[in-house]
Amino acid sequence: MEKTKVLIAYGTRYGATKGTAEEIAKILEEEGLEVKVVNLKEENVKDISQFELVIVGSGMKMDMWTSKAKAFLNKFSGELKKKKVALFVSSGGRALMEYKGELDEIDRITKKYLESKASKYGLNPISMNMFGGIWDYNQMGKISRKALDAEKDNFIPAGFKETEPGVYDSRNWDEIREWAKDLAGII
Ligand SMILES: Cc1cc2nc3c(=O)[nH]c(=O)nc-3n(C[C@H](O)[C@H](O)[C@H](O)COP(=O)(O)O)c2cc1C
Repeated sequence: MEKTKVLIAYGTRYGATKGTAEEIAKILEEEGLEVKVVNLKEENVKDISQFELVIVGSGMKMDMWTSKAKAFLNKFSGELKKKKVALFVSSGGRALMEYKGELDEIDRITKKYLESKASKYGLNPISMNMFGGIWDYNQMGKISRKALDAEKDNFIPAGFKETEPGVYDSRNWDEIREWAKDLAGII
């Protein structure tokens, strides 16, 4: 029997979404699906007709998706409406908000990053999720680094891991793997 084909198309600025997309792909493959992973900055997707499920992922910056992931949704919105679609974002902000107890903010970003995005493109995703992200002080511009210096003390208590000097990662790999496994179960 032919394997069900899945496309994971993602946009990333600092690399978190790449790692998350690759982990999702690994789990889906273990679950018997055929997965193509595309970094939208490196590859232009021309055709999505062969895929039964399309997963679109984006990193967040200043409340914005990457332009490549937005362009992908825009280009294929007609076709995506007729397919199974799942969305995910990488948010470095969520874990900090949880730590600070900013429940209204979490509610706001969940709506803005995922629900509004889906409805903007007329999509009814089978699943959506907001995963953690990375704050990479080595890759940030000078202004951002200065503005975000005060947050540094919050990362460890908020559950981030310092994976390299100056790189704080809030991704929960179990959460990511569980989501992928659930997804495989519902398509
Ligand atoms: C300048 C800057 C702005 C950011 N703005 C947000 C934001 O508005 N909301 C959020 O959840 N995370 C924000 N983050 C954290 C990112 O979501 C995090 O870096 C994530 O890993 C981005 O995904 P990517 O690594 O795939 O690009 C910001 C990070 C930087 C450096």
